Amino acid sequence: MLRRSCLAVPGSSERFIEKAKEIPADMTFLDLEDAVAPREKVAARGKVAAAIGAGGWDDRIICVRVNAWDTPLTFRDVLEVVSGSGPRLDEIMLPKVQNAAQVIALDLLLTQIEKEVGLPAGHVGIEAQIETTTGLINVEEICAASSRLEAVVFGPADFAASMEMPVLTGGVELPEYPGDHFHYVFSKILMAARANGIQVIDGPYLRIASLDGLREYAKRSATLGYDGKWAIHPTQVEVLNEVYLPSQELFDKAVDILEAYEQATTTGGRGAVMFDAEMIDEASRKMALKFVARGEKAGMKRSQRRQ
Ligand code: GLV
Ligand code: MG
Repeated sequence: MLRRSCLAVPGSSERFIEKAKEIPADMTFLDLEDAVAPREKVAARGKVAAAIGAGGWDDRIICVRVNAWDTPLTFRDVLEVVSGSGPRLDEIMLPKVQNAAQVIALDLLLTQIEKEVGLPAGHVGIEAQIETTTGLINVEEICAASSRLEAVVFGPADFAASMEMPVLTGGVELPEYPGDHFHYVFSKILMAARANGIQVIDGPYLRIASLDGLREYAKRSATLGYDGKWAIHPTQVEVLNEVYLPSQELFDKAVDILEAYEQATTTGGRGAVMFDAEMIDEASRKMALKFVARGEKAGMKRSQRRQ
């Protein structure tokens, strides 16, 4: 599934939820956690479940972010949302995941609820947010904790707070720092996710007025190989759908590499051949396959070859 743009919508606002249906995000999550005021949290459960059950969501991924296990809310969030939403709910996002046990606890709870309400076993997937120091230390066991895990998500704002970084805006570049202050974090999460065959998503960019800033910043995780990024405002969706898609030029090159390699290994009987000025081999095929698969999921086609 494509997860280039993951649109966050406060679960307490029926108006925003209704509007979100028109925004072409690959994934939309209705939030019960930090975007909802504490006194609205209990009422938001029913609003979220009703909005998902009512339909009108096309074929995007639909997710609900529940409150973390260190609150008294998680169990009832999951129970009310999963039993009230019906089969259109694709996944639950668990914030501030600290260790594998927290994912396993959610998995077991989902198993019981699915059985009780008559959903197929394993129907509801899990997204785990890595946004605390402990969560990052344990990211490898977290990514391997459950077959329900579909994606792992970096939360830069909570992570900066957990690290006690002297910043006041989450998920933006820090010009004072030579290099990328999150490079290690991005790479560590990415490796843990890929080692377990799950997708990996970058978190919010909080300067919503700057689409150019978003585009530049998103290119960092896109270049490392992340599948997508959160949109915390509808205007961010279009930018992300573009940044997390291969360019037409690279898509075309990947298709051509696959063709050239296929020809070399079958009719040519060779394992390594020249492709323009580059040598390509089996590893090139693997790299190209990922590109092509990602592009094709979004409907890309090889552009017309020049005669
Ligand atoms: C998102 O949840 C974040 O904390 O950045
Ligand atoms: Mg957070």
